[in-house]
Amino acid sequence: MADTAATAPAATAFPATGRRVLVSGASRGLGRAVALAFAENGDRVAVHYGSRRADAEATLAALPGDGHALLHADIGSPEGAAELVAAADAALGGIDVLVNNAAVNTPHPPATTSYADWTAAWQQHVAVNLLGTAHLSHGAAQRMIEQGTGGRIVNVGSRGAFRGEPDHPAYGATKAAVHALGQSLAVALAPHGIAVASVAPGFIDTERVGDRLAGAQGAAIRAQSPFGRVAEPAEIAAAVRWLASPEAQWSSGTVLDVNGASYLRT
Ligand SMILES: NC(=O)c1ccc[n+]([C@@H]2O[C@H](COP(=O)([O-])OP(=O)(O)OC[C@H]3O[C@@H](n4cnc5c(N)ncnc54)[C@H](OP(=O)(O)O)[C@@H]3O)[C@@H](O)[C@H]2O)c1
Repeated sequence: MADTAATAPAATAFPATGRRVLVSGASRGLGRAVALAFAENGDRVAVHYGSRRADAEATLAALPGDGHALLHADIGSPEGAAELVAAADAALGGIDVLVNNAAVNTPHPPATTSYADWTAAWQQHVAVNLLGTAHLSHGAAQRMIEQGTGGRIVNVGSRGAFRGEPDHPAYGATKAAVHALGQSLAVALAPHGIAVASVAPGFIDTERVGDRLAGAQGAAIRAQSPFGRVAEPAEIAAAVRWLASPEAQWSSGTVLDVNGASYLRT
């Protein structure tokens, strides 16, 4: 049997800064905070967006350092995901870190959603959240293997994978699948010095959930955590950045809860 692990780059070989980082869905919210965290670390970032070009330009303009790029793609199609990997590879001259942040989350409560809307919601969630993540991971991993210097893939999952998402069941299911995908890839890619991990955040104060946090549900959502608040995007971005560090190689395969003790898995 081949001793593939012996050929993997050592933990120290993966650089701590100056990496080439692709962040999907960085037009706003958590993706913007993640892009900022890597740029502040001295990395070069490909800021990807789906539909909000002006917001993505604002993310790009906020990044310290040089050599960042702005890239558009619909990652809900296999072609779009492949084009994004190729564009990031070309713009940055390679890919060392992939952060799978882009996702959709639209309500489709089973008791009140028509079958047509139900099937459409499932298809969209699977296409973007699961298949988009899988296809970007495949493309980035192949680049990292060709480069021969290891890599990091960090998935943004969700607490909802464990706690349940009664009004967004396709979201919860696809996030559980993203966690499982990351664990399979962690085993498959370790011989190439590529570590793969996921974060599972609870509520984050992003534009997408701003109405819910400001509305009647807001107090109850904040009370989910014994800290009495929800996460700032920068708190989740810090965990993502650490999982992409050289020191985090031994945490490959983990699903890291970042939910302010609002849900404790056993
Ligand atoms: N906010 C929370 O409370 C919370 C909690 C747990 C986990 N999360 C996770 O954190 C991540 C970011 O959440 P967020 O609140 O920052 O969400 P958001 O503001 O809705 O951002 C989602 C990003 O994904 C991109 N995107 C969606 N569909 C796409 C597609 N088909 N092709 C390309 N890009 C696409 C969007 O691009 P455009 O805007 O340019 O279209 C946007 O940049 C997601 O993975 C989410 O599931 C969030």
